[in-house]
Amino acid sequence: MKLPRITLVSLLTDSVTLKHMRVAGFHHAVVAAENAFQLAKERNICPDLSTKAALLHDIGHTDWEKQGEWDFESYDYFDIHPIKGAERAHELLTLKGEHLGKAREIALAILFHSGSSPINTNLELTPLQKLVMEADDLDEQESGRHHLTEIPLKEAIDRMEELDENIDIHLNRCDERCWNCDKR
Ligand SMILES: [Fe+2]
Ligand SMILES: [Fe+2]
Repeated sequence: MKLPRITLVSLLTDSVTLKHMRVAGFHHAVVAAENAFQLAKERNICPDLSTKAALLHDIGHTDWEKQGEWDFESYDYFDIHPIKGAERAHELLTLKGEHLGKAREIALAILFHSGSSPINTNLELTPLQKLVMEADDLDEQESGRHHLTEIPLKEAIDRMEELDENIDIHLNRCDERCWNCDKR
């Protein structure tokens, strides 16, 4: 039996997402998800996995202090935001009832989304992981300015609603060649 897809809107509007996504910004998350959809179509990679991982890729950003001061050095060196992001996204997805195979692939794509991260050294990325990294990089601006662009939550929801419709259309026409997708 085909179960209903967990939508981008249901992920975006969850209280966990609303709390943590504010740190890196809704705009960057929405643009990354839209980029991921385009890349997924071009590369014949599952748009459901691609857009979910891109939407949630920076959900791990957090305060990280040492003796009361922002500690970028250890935050960056020890991969705090990709690790925390993978963990938060995995918990969110499984609580929503996401297929565990999909939750795993999305969490791993988030874990490896940062190209400059030490965690990625000597690692061969999967097509999905590469796609999510590129969808993120396409929105990158100097000095992290992509995290500062603001967007009303209503606009973010509307854009993800539109993307959900496009993903549904795409999945209905799916010819089962999408990478590692079980057509749920
Ligand atoms: Fe990131
Ligand atoms: Fe990002």
